[in-house]
Amino acid sequence: MTASATLTAPTTLTAPPGDMPSDPLMERLQWRYAAKKLDPARAVPQDKVERILEAARLAPTSSGLQPYEIIVVSNKDVRERIKPIAWNQGQITDGSHLLVFAAWDNYTAERINMMFDLTNAVRGTKNEGWENYRNLLLGMYPQRGAEVNHQHAARQAYIGLSAAMMAAAFEEVDCTPMEGFDPAALDEILNLRARGLRSVAILPLGYREADKDWLVNLTKVRRPREQFITEV
Ligand SMILES: Cc1cc2nc3c(=O)[nH]c(=O)nc-3n(C[C@H](O)[C@H](O)[C@H](O)COP(=O)(O)O)c2cc1C
Repeated sequence: MTASATLTAPTTLTAPPGDMPSDPLMERLQWRYAAKKLDPARAVPQDKVERILEAARLAPTSSGLQPYEIIVVSNKDVRERIKPIAWNQGQITDGSHLLVFAAWDNYTAERINMMFDLTNAVRGTKNEGWENYRNLLLGMYPQRGAEVNHQHAARQAYIGLSAAMMAAAFEEVDCTPMEGFDPAALDEILNLRARGLRSVAILPLGYREADKDWLVNLTKVRRPREQFITEV
């Protein structure tokens, strides 16, 4: 398989379980994998990057607070500095863009009010139930420890990470979700703590270099449906 091949299953995929029909979404979800080798000669076009970012922006979050941001690192020098604090994973520099998912370090009254005020401004209404809900969160979140709040925010960031991965597959763009990096060191490189952010996951985007990727032809491994889904 050449690096330019698209949507041909990279793995020896088994047939969909049972009589599950193949469809375009399932094909792309089977096509995607956590690429180990990206082609440094191929850059992801900006319109595709924008749609991947938009999928993350549209991802739902608890109470709609969107308690994270995405830093798009296309600068090669910055990615060269990030690579050694991320287990020297080559996808960071071989890809063309690195998305850094950075969660709020805490839920403050200011941040909660910012999102509730935005909702009122966008919808052009002020609703009593919504204001009661604002007060409920204001009475709950800021009083909790910062670490509990950050962990909650980080879980929301992972929803965005997932949306970005699915959108990348839809765009036939390869990516590698990564937790294999030193978050404190990355925060330092990108000066995130000064912005009240902490990195939680990173996602290089690029195109697989299939002939140099040991994973590309290995069968995708997932527990069978009966060991994964319980129907009650
Ligand atoms: C949150 C998260 C963190 C991961 N961290 C890394 C990583 O640092 N390096 C890496 O090569 N793969 C990483 N992976 C890839 C997983 O190992 C991979 O997604 C999993 O084995 C399933 O395989 P598939 O994605 O190829 O289908 C990570 C995946 C997720 C979801």
